Amino acid sequence: MWDINAPMANPAAVLAKVALVPAPTSSPSVRRAETTRRTGLGARPLHVPSSTPARRPAPFVKWVGGKGRLLSQLAPLMPPGVERMRHVEPFVGGGALFFARAPKRALLADVNPDLVGTYEAIRDEVETVLRALARLAALPHESEQFYELRERYNAGGQSKAERAALFIYLNKTCFNGLHRVNRAGHFNVPFGRYKNPRILDADGLRVASHALKGAKIVRDSFEGLLRNARPGDFVYFDPPYEPVSRTASFTGYAQDGFSQADQERLRDVFAALDRRGCKLMLSNSDVPFIRELYGRWNIDVIHAARAINCDPSGRGKVAEVVVRNYC
Ligand SMILES: C[S@@+](CC[C@H](N)C(=O)[O-])C[C@H]1O[C@@H](n2cnc3c(N)ncnc32)[C@H](O)[C@@H]1O
Repeated sequence: MWDINAPMANPAAVLAKVALVPAPTSSPSVRRAETTRRTGLGARPLHVPSSTPARRPAPFVKWVGGKGRLLSQLAPLMPPGVERMRHVEPFVGGGALFFARAPKRALLADVNPDLVGTYEAIRDEVETVLRALARLAALPHESEQFYELRERYNAGGQSKAERAALFIYLNKTCFNGLHRVNRAGHFNVPFGRYKNPRILDADGLRVASHALKGAKIVRDSFEGLLRNARPGDFVYFDPPYEPVSRTASFTGYAQDGFSQADQERLRDVFAALDRRGCKLMLSNSDVPFIRELYGRWNIDVIHAARAINCDPSGRGKVAEVVVRNYC
């Protein structure tokens, strides 16, 4: 185990110590096979060249609550021998910990159907997604274009790869990378006004695709773990956080938000998997309600910089808890 208080000169080097392995880009034969297919977002097959050497896998979407900046604090809290365990993430979101670890075997889940569909498309047909995304990236970057594509996305009817490309395009160009849908299930986040958003990152997507090859990805609520988790799995729970105060609440990840009753049901799932023999790690905000729910397990405190907060005075460091059922 490391000293988590030790100064960290190079986060990538630190993460590499906990088996956060770089993955090579997909093989040329896979790319060739996929480039023979066409996408309906345009008729002409397009070759998307690779520009950089092998990169470490990383999230391909911006995601509220993404753990990218907390990896150096989370990694030392994973269980000894984690590299031999199946990696299970029931609230995968952008998948920062999953991609940083790039485990051989994983089970990833989320309630967001379009996020899950995008993961599947990136894993199974990344070159088709890339060609569709290249066409979108070549369009003028302006609000009318954004709203037209948002409407097209909400109308549906695309192939899985085309929809994944639209999902990524909207994520990169909408306000703050938020994902919010209205009652009808329509994505309704406004244009983001970025000067020059990086819509197409071909190498990043290929590396992510490679990292996902050994992952099963399901659209499911966290209770699905009661069917799917096995003794010896490493399960990382990163649910929508319990708000620190009412004004700081942001639980709008899914249509229905995440209530205190959901937090209680999640604790029950945590307890059931503890009895089953899984290694469990869970993030949440450091508030009395959460400390009471998980009082019988080990609780560590880490510190995060909060970006999504209506109150400008709340932008500083915020304490979070990491609950574990092991030392
Ligand atoms: C805090 S985010 C996870 C962030 C992720 N760890 C990352 O690094 O990007 C929480 C995720 O939980 C998902 N979610 C919300 N309610 C859920 C539920 N009942 N079951 C499973 N996933 C849920 C949301 O769609 C969202 O992607």
